[in-house]
This record gives sequence, C-alpha cells and structure tokens, in this order.
Amino acid sequence: MRLRQKTALVTGAASGIGKETCVLFAKEGANVACVDVNGDGAQAVADAITADGGRAIAVTADVSKDADCARMVEETEAAFGGLHIAFNNAGIMDSGDDDAVTTEEAVFDRTYAINVKGVFLGCKYEIPALRRAGGGSIVNTASFVALLGSATPQIAYTASKGAVLSMTRELAVIHAREDIRVNALCPGPLKTELLMKFLDTEEKKQRRLVHVPMGRFGEASEMARAALYLASDEASYLTGATFSVDGGITAAYVTPE
Ligand code: NAI
Repeated sequence: MRLRQKTALVTGAASGIGKETCVLFAKEGANVACVDVNGDGAQAVADAITADGGRAIAVTADVSKDADCARMVEETEAAFGGLHIAFNNAGIMDSGDDDAVTTEEAVFDRTYAINVKGVFLGCKYEIPALRRAGGGSIVNTASFVALLGSATPQIAYTASKGAVLSMTRELAVIHAREDIRVNALCPGPLKTELLMKFLDTEEKKQRRLVHVPMGRFGEASEMARAALYLASDEASYLTGATFSVDGGITAAYVTPE
C-alpha cells in the first residue's frame, strides 16, 4: 500500500477526478477526507469507502469560503490526527464562459473564486497542518488549457488554470525546505461531467478529439493514478512540476489521421 498511515484531504470529492482519487487513496491505505460543496455526494463517496473497509469522512465545504477551508482542515485533523496530503481539485467551468468580449464579469469572478481563490484558501490552512505533521504533499489540479490556447474559448477558466499553475510553482519554491512538495496535475480533456456537459454531440466530441494524439478522452481514474504518484513518497524529489497527463495533447502539432 502506497499511502499507509497517511491522511489525505481531497476537494471536489463528489464527482469525477476527486471521487476516483478518494477511492484510490483509501485503497492505498490512506484516511480520506472527502470534501465537496455537494455534501450528499461527498457523503456517498465516504460511505462507499467505509463500506469497503476503508477510513473516510465527508466534509461539506465551499472552497471559495475562508471559514469552510479552515473547517475542512480542522475536521480532518480532528478525525485522523493529522494531514499529510492535500489534493486541491475542486473546479468549475461556467456555461457563460466565452471570449473576453461576451463573458460577464460575474462569470469571471465566480470562476476565479472557486478555481483560484479556492486553491489559495486551501493552501492557507493545509500548509500549517502539513507543517504540524512534519511535511507532506500538495497536488493542485490545473489543466492542459494552462499551456495551450483554444479557438473554443473559455477565457475565465483558462486564465484561472494558468493562475493555479503559477501559484503552484511559487508554493513549491517557498515551502521546499519544509519538506512540503507542491505539484500541479494538468489533465487533458476527460470523459467527466465537467466537460461532457459541453461536448453534448458526437460532432463536438470529434472536433476536440482531432487534437488528441491518443484519439480518446481521458478517464478520471487515470488522473487519480497520477495524483497518487504525486501524493506518494515515490515522488519524493518532485516539486513545482507541471505534470501533464493528457493523451499527448500538449506534445502535438499534427496528430495521426
Ligand atoms: P466534476 O465536475 O466531475 O467534479 C468537480 C467537483 O467539484 C464536483 O463534485 C463539484 O460539486 C465540486 N465543486 C465545485 N465547486 C466547488 C466548491 N466551490 N467547493 C467545493 N467543491 C466544489 O469535474 P472533474 O472533471 O472531476 O474536474 C476536477 C478538476 O479537474 C477541476 O479543477 C477541473 O477544472 C479539472 N480539469 C478537468 C478536465 C476535464 O476535462 N474534465 C480537464 C482539465 C482539468
């Protein structure tokens, strides 16, 4: 087991990458705090882990709220006696997010509040907890869009993921000598609720897949395995990394026919 005697906090735990990661971390021996604004969803994931013989709690929290982020860490430490791994993964893609001309200011603000401030507030309370535990690993979910532009714009989302990536690098440098590693997971386009609700026709799906050398969408479980590596001691010399798990999309210029 790769996370024996570790405690992990995962945000966005009710769905997609977060849900798969909670389950995988628990199978690898971790105590898991499943955090989501969707409390019922987080509870269902925690219940499934517990029914399978693992150890998990659910915490209802909105990562854009300071008090919620403080409480999610407090409840995790109270339940399991410490915190070693934080996966700041919760994120949104707003349906009103488009180009700079048409996107409403409120859409931009909401996207930043969750995707960027949510990571900042998470770190604000997770880092002191990791210090108390003698070190640990933080994984922040950015995206391939932090590295590539798209003609189907989502200006707020793309900018927010760029911010997550640069914030991750700075956190990594600041905390490197405290034995706290901080890395960014950059998923490619995935077959999760977040993206599939936008790519709701076969034509839209194929338009995206043209750019993916592997010719398929990624699975949330493939991101969970990458998060596991980054969280575990196997990545002991890895910090400040842009860890792309994207079917080759960021390596591609012309893709196979
Ligand atoms: P998802 O939509 O399946 O899950 C996101 C979860 O975050 C949901 O359970 C939702 O309730 C929760 N959440 C939303 N706002 C929250 C808040 N304010 N506080 C707490 N929890 C909140 O999405 P998915 O695909 O699992 O995405 C996870 C992360 O991966 C996000 O940061 C997303 O931007 C990123 N990502 C996703 C890609 C994709 O193609 N699906 C590609 C690249 C990055």
